[in-house]
Amino acid sequence: MTRSFRERIAKAAAEKKSPIVLALDPSASKRGLPQFAVKTIRAVEQHICAVKMNFHLILPLSASEISRINTLVHSCGLQSIADIKLNDIENTNEVAVDHLTRMGFDAVIANPFIGRSGLAALVQKAHRANAGVIALVYMSHPGAKEGFGLEVDGRGLYMAFLERAAGAGADGIVVGATQLDILRQVAKKLPVYSPGIGAQGGDAEQAVRSGADYLIIGRSIVEAAQPAKVAKEIQNKILSVRK
Ligand code: XMP
Repeated sequence: MTRSFRERIAKAAAEKKSPIVLALDPSASKRGLPQFAVKTIRAVEQHICAVKMNFHLILPLSASEISRINTLVHSCGLQSIADIKLNDIENTNEVAVDHLTRMGFDAVIANPFIGRSGLAALVQKAHRANAGVIALVYMSHPGAKEGFGLEVDGRGLYMAFLERAAGAGADGIVVGATQLDILRQVAKKLPVYSPGIGAQGGDAEQAVRSGADYLIIGRSIVEAAQPAKVAKEIQNKILSVRK
């Protein structure tokens, strides 16, 4: 039977003994991006369960280059997430999901700001393609409180986004590792993906203790002199918390 994205990533995390989602972020708009992608994935694949590709990697690559990277990701037993924070009307979001799934992505990240029905339509579209949707609930950067932290009807907007994500059947939510109180509030409701470790000040062990299920990590690993060594160190730290 074909597994859902939620099951596939849980299986990858169990097999690799790692909940790390590698944010495959190039540090500048440089040449040789496919080579950068292949080299980085090969170096760290033993220590991660998924790869996340952002706008600034996807934009300069061709569809066939992206497909080839996703084929490598899958051949390593990993999942692939497209992080372009979908945030538009139903029709354009759905066409975007078509393109992304055809290029081999297993999941997309979306902004619940589009509203209940738009998010539900996006989830249904992704599920028909056997892909997942991860919804933003509270971003990791300092400015996040100016949007996700706004008070609406006596509570943070992020609580409405959490309910919207659950109601739409989303497969996970994003809450920054820099927001430990919010991580504790949302833990166990849906799988929690947490960026903001290292370069943005978040701590892997604290994030896991506060309820993060998956850690999205970019610069700390990608820009290290020895990416595999750093990824393994973070993996071991997380394993020691979960023992
Ligand atoms: P660093 O280098 O800070 O990279 O480890 C973090 C990665 O995660 C992305 N990011 C987010 N993605 N919601 C998201 O969907 C967020 O709140 C968020 N904060 C960071 C960022 O784009 C980078 O790829």
